Amino acid sequence: MSTTSVILAAGFGTRMRSKLPKVLHPIGGHPMIWHALQAVKTATGKPPVVVIGHGAEDVREAVGENATFTIQEEQLGTGHALQQAESLLRNKTKYVLVTSADLPLLTSQTFLNLIDEHKKQPGPITLLTAILEDARGFGQVVRGSDGQVQAIVEQAQATPDQLNIRELNVGAYCFDAKWLWDALKRIPISSKGEYYLTDLVGIAVEHGLAVKAQTLSDVSESIGINTRVHLAEAEEALRQRINRDFMLSGVTIVDPKTTYIDAGVSIGQDTTIWPNTLLQGETFIGKECTLGPNTVVRHSKMGAGCRVLASVIEHAVIENNVNIGPFGHLRKGSHLADGVHMGNFGEVKNSHLGPGVKMGHFSYIGDATIGQDVNIGAGTITCNYDGKDKHHTHIEAGAFIGSDTMLVAPIKVGKAARTGAGSVVTKDVPDKTVVAGIPARAIRKLDNSD
Ligand code: UD1
Ligand code: MG
Repeated sequence: MSTTSVILAAGFGTRMRSKLPKVLHPIGGHPMIWHALQAVKTATGKPPVVVIGHGAEDVREAVGENATFTIQEEQLGTGHALQQAESLLRNKTKYVLVTSADLPLLTSQTFLNLIDEHKKQPGPITLLTAILEDARGFGQVVRGSDGQVQAIVEQAQATPDQLNIRELNVGAYCFDAKWLWDALKRIPISSKGEYYLTDLVGIAVEHGLAVKAQTLSDVSESIGINTRVHLAEAEEALRQRINRDFMLSGVTIVDPKTTYIDAGVSIGQDTTIWPNTLLQGETFIGKECTLGPNTVVRHSKMGAGCRVLASVIEHAVIENNVNIGPFGHLRKGSHLADGVHMGNFGEVKNSHLGPGVKMGHFSYIGDATIGQDVNIGAGTITCNYDGKDKHHTHIEAGAFIGSDTMLVAPIKVGKAARTGAGSVVTKDVPDKTVVAGIPARAIRKLDNSD
């Protein structure tokens, strides 16, 4: 019965000029609404109610299991949007925390403070305000001569004097549920044909009820997104916040301005990140790694002590002390075990490279299993595709693949076997056997002295 949150996300987002609903535009690697969702969920300890309308099905799919939904069939304004949550919440919660999906920088701590502050107040509304030089289209907070909040006036309706007010409505509120639902019905229709949630302030004051404002100390949290210019500003502010948190937790970021880390990425202590490096999606980096310059790691997991220079890593798992680049590309399903060395211009896809594998120069390894300590000579290619199907290559521990070997899959190279430079291997190679030529033939068996 304590506090339930509502996220308003039904608006059209006209000012974004986009086919994509505004609240799904990505920021920090997640749809915009994800950020509000995480923050209110942490603050209230339970999933929010999300009001959807424009692009409802897409928004519902992006949010998934993390919320309850209510539909606003016609977008008749923020007051009307909140009304759509009444049937789900009436008599079910004591306080209602309301925010918008287009305010992705508000933190769970800010919401917690707002709730705490509201609980101390006798009045039915506590709202979040910010002192800003640029009004950004926000509503102005009008205070009386006694300093008490009197009303919120939207810019389009504000008098010239009111337009000079620097205290602005951020768009997050905590309400007494008992008062809220009936008060919402008293909101008059505006000249634009909308019901403004912000009119609740005037309504409370008219009835002699106190409205309390809590002012944000970090104004960057108030960046609301109505246009793509705002989207870029929010992205930058979020990036600064994420980078700063990592630096304070013991990660060296040589140039934060050119380091782009998505929300939710984790990085171990004493890892160093050089410029122009992007860490995206569900990515986990261990401690004492050196990444970049010019590196992209996306949806991947990396152990400790790895070194990655000017490379692209996607959907891969990398264990400890692995060395990649410059100019390596790990694609989906790559798994590099401890101590793998992958030098210049290597590409690996859907393959497991065992501990200590060396792959120094210009190679493609696709759909392969490579055993421990295999040496892959410069220019080696797994010919995994016959034009119709993909086939597997299996190289067992200790094998030595000569430069420029073509391994025509499906194929198996046995333990400690060797291929000569330039071989085209079309048949399985037994253990401890040297093959060479086109097509490759066995030329000798290795004994223990080799
Ligand atoms: C609103 C506030 C303004 C505040 C600003 C801060 C009102 C009338 N104005 O203006 O005082 O300074 O936010 O961010 O509330 N939405 C719906 N259904 C609708 C209309 C909007 O769900 O019918 C949702 C939108 O998806 C959005 C949020 O409500 O997430 C805010 O709507 P928006 O049109 O962005 O309002 P602002 O003009 O920013
Ligand atoms: Mg807005």
